[in-house]
Amino acid sequence: MSFSNWYNRTLNQIWGFVEDRTAMKKWALRPQPEFTFKPSYWTGAFVAVAFFYQVVSGALLLLYYQPSTGSTLTACGQPLGTQSVAPAAWCSTYYIIHSVPMGSLLLSTHLYGAYAMIFLMFVHFYRGYYLGVYKAPREFSWMVGTLLMIVTLGMGFTGYLLPYTQISYNATNVGIVLALGLPTLGPLAGPLILADGTSQGLLSRMFDAHVLLLPLALAALLYAHIALFESHGIAPQATSDPLQRRRYTEKDDKQHIPFVPHILWYTLKWGLLYVGVLFGIAALWPWNLPTYVGNLAAANAVTEPDWYFLWLFKFVDFYGVTPVLAVGVTTVLILFVLFLPFLDRSKRTHPRDRPFFIWLITSLLGFFIVMTVWGGETPGVQILPLLVAETLGPIFAVNAVVTAGFYWRYRRTYLRRLAEREAQLGGLYTPAGPAPGAVPRAVPEVKGVE
Ligand code: HEM
Repeated sequence: MSFSNWYNRTLNQIWGFVEDRTAMKKWALRPQPEFTFKPSYWTGAFVAVAFFYQVVSGALLLLYYQPSTGSTLTACGQPLGTQSVAPAAWCSTYYIIHSVPMGSLLLSTHLYGAYAMIFLMFVHFYRGYYLGVYKAPREFSWMVGTLLMIVTLGMGFTGYLLPYTQISYNATNVGIVLALGLPTLGPLAGPLILADGTSQGLLSRMFDAHVLLLPLALAALLYAHIALFESHGIAPQATSDPLQRRRYTEKDDKQHIPFVPHILWYTLKWGLLYVGVLFGIAALWPWNLPTYVGNLAAANAVTEPDWYFLWLFKFVDFYGVTPVLAVGVTTVLILFVLFLPFLDRSKRTHPRDRPFFIWLITSLLGFFIVMTVWGGETPGVQILPLLVAETLGPIFAVNAVVTAGFYWRYRRTYLRRLAEREAQLGGLYTPAGPAPGAVPRAVPEVKGVE
């Protein structure tokens, strides 16, 4: 027997033994179709990997971090035994960077890992939006996902204050002023966020939320998200076919690829690449700790949140935008995303069949990008209405023209071919959906029509 035969047989035997003794087939995630061997189908898994890394690196940081605004006797860039004037939260962060072995790498990967998790989550969200994965039967997966997005952004918000730098302190206060400005909810949330009104009270609440409450909420929501994914299986490719089958049967499962080990290895491979790239970036560009809260030299420090809140931060700079209006607009956006599966009622998942929703999300994407860059370049500078209209108006207008152009072209060519096929099928397909009483049968291929 050749070595490779022996090697493969031995591996198969070991794997068979593990599978049998763990009853893995019963509990492993559902098998998935072969077309899912593409990274774009596993964007959510990459977010989950990023979350997992945040939990591990955060647990290690907890060994050293002190959530206190008081001064400290621990070494904080000063000779041992000298009382530092800097708050303990900042000092312990300084200590992690400068004195803990690999501490700078650990902290930088945790920070960049947060950015990556949020970025990947947006990729996951936008992909799902464009490809209509929120349509039946996956409406609840989408809604739980929206809650995951809110909690993940909350993790970013609460974590930002923890190093206790002047810049993060100022930005956190802007966020809190916005939250407290909400009618009814604001005064109710006040004591919850601010505790006794001292800086220590605020830091303690943020710390509690960041390391306990929000991670627990995130883990619970992720469990529900994956359980829903398990019960529906992965969303099939987007199509213009209103009769597309979007559920899998047990018979389908038998023909699909087992999750363990094949899909698990596939996603793990990408996950390991993610961790490698994260370490590479953190090693090349380690994070620099800005100065601490209360340092007089930083009295004029710019107030700036992390990049994912810059758009909102800039929005408040617009002339006439009050905290209530800013929070109101954010709430409307969240409600739109949450209830999207019930707003977009078309049965077709392909982007070309949903021009209004595609125009809206593409314009919003442009809006967020422009606002983020604007917020980063001119933080805190008030903007007059004319400049707002000149800068943001073209985004919505150009998108409307481009989307309308594509849709017009599509209706002329694609729908004509669809009508040809419908003629062959005797009324099974109509642009408005299946004809009443139509019986599905074998579909002859027409070039360019799925
Ligand atoms: C912390 C954030 C999130 C995590 C860790 C996460 C994780 C996952 C995972 C592991 C899957 C399985 C398929 C895949 O890997 O893509 C999935 C699917 C899904 N997610 Fe998320 N997700 C998150 C946020 C969101 C958000 C913000 C939305 C939308 C608002 C969303 C909507 C969905 C939907 C509809 C599916 C089913 C898609 C399909 O079957 O192809 N998720 N998610």
